[in-house]
Amino acid sequence: MKKLPKIELHLHLEGGAPPAFIRGLARDKKLDISGIFNEDGSYRFTDFWNFLKVYEAACTTLQNPEDFRRLTLAVLEESAASGVIYSETFLSPDFCGGRDLGAWREYLLAIREAADEAERSMGITLRGVVTCIRHFGPEKARETALCAAETAGDFITGFGIAGDEKVGAPKDYLWSFDCAREAGLRLTAHAGEWGGPDSVRAAIRDLGVERIGHGVRAIEDLALVDEIAERGVVLEVCPGSNVALGIYPTFRAHPIGQLYDRGVKVTVSTDDPPFFHTTMAREYDMLNRAFDWDEGVFATIARTSLDAAFCDADTKAKLARKLEAADA
Ligand code: HPA
Ligand code: ZN
Repeated sequence: MKKLPKIELHLHLEGGAPPAFIRGLARDKKLDISGIFNEDGSYRFTDFWNFLKVYEAACTTLQNPEDFRRLTLAVLEESAASGVIYSETFLSPDFCGGRDLGAWREYLLAIREAADEAERSMGITLRGVVTCIRHFGPEKARETALCAAETAGDFITGFGIAGDEKVGAPKDYLWSFDCAREAGLRLTAHAGEWGGPDSVRAAIRDLGVERIGHGVRAIEDLALVDEIAERGVVLEVCPGSNVALGIYPTFRAHPIGQLYDRGVKVTVSTDDPPFFHTTMAREYDMLNRAFDWDEGVFATIARTSLDAAFCDADTKAKLARKLEAADA
C-alpha cells in the first residue's frame, strides 16, 4: 500500500506535527506544555473538544515563519514516505501571525520555500487551503478570508472552515465564503462529523461548497447521500480520524464503504495523522482489510481525488501522468 501513489485533500498542517517536533520547539522556547503528552510521548486528549485544546496548545510553540518552514518539511516527509504525491493542506492564518496580512505573507513564503524543497527532493506537491476556525467566530473568520483572498493564486487554491462544528451555523460564515469565492478560491467546509445530515445540507446549501470535510454522517439520511452523489459533491473522508475520535468503533463499522458503493465521490485523508496514530499508508491498509478494497478501488479513489483537487490544470496533468505510470 505504501507504493500506491496517493492524493491527500484533508490534512491540517499543524495537525501533522510530530509530537517530538513540538516538544523540541517547546524546549527551545522554554514553554511548559508537558500536559499535552502521554508518558510514551504521544499527544494526550480525551475527546474531540479536548483534542482542539491540545491542538491549540501545541500551536503555541509555532511562533515564526522558520518554525512553519521546518514544520512543513517534517509533515511532507511523512506524507511522501506514505506514497503521497500531492497534498492539499489546511493552513490557518490564526496560527500564522494572528491573521495579520503582512505576517501571513511572511509565513506563507516560508511554507512555500519548504514546499519547493520537498517537491525537488521528495517529489511531493503541496497546495494550501486557507481555513478559518469556527469556534473563533465569524469576525475572525472575516480577517482570515481577507488573508486568503489577498494571497489567492497558484499556491493558495481554496478556502474552508475547521474547528468546532457545534458552534454557530454555516451561514454565519457566508461573508467569508463569499469573499473567498470572489477571489477565485474553491470551497470546502467541515460538516457531518459532529453534526448530523442537516449540517451537511446546510454547508452545501448555505455556503455553496463543492467539497465537504468528513460528511460521513450523511449516511444517516440516504436521500441526502443520493443528493450528494447526484450533485457530485466530494467527501474528504478521514476514517482513521473518525475511529480515533470514537464516531465509529472500527474501520469495518465506518460508512465509507457504503458511501462508495452508493456512488458518492469519496476521497481518503488523514486529518491530523500523529494525533490519530495514522498515516496515509495505514489508512489504505485498514481500508484494504476492512472492505477488501484492492488496487483498482484505490486507483479510482486517487483519480476522484485528483479531479476534486483545487490546483490548476497543468499541475493536475503532471499528477495524472504519475498516476497513469503507476497503473501501467
Ligand atoms: N477537525 C476540526 N478542526 C480541526 C481539526 C479537525 O480534525 N484539526 C484541526 N482543526
Ligand atoms: Zn479536519
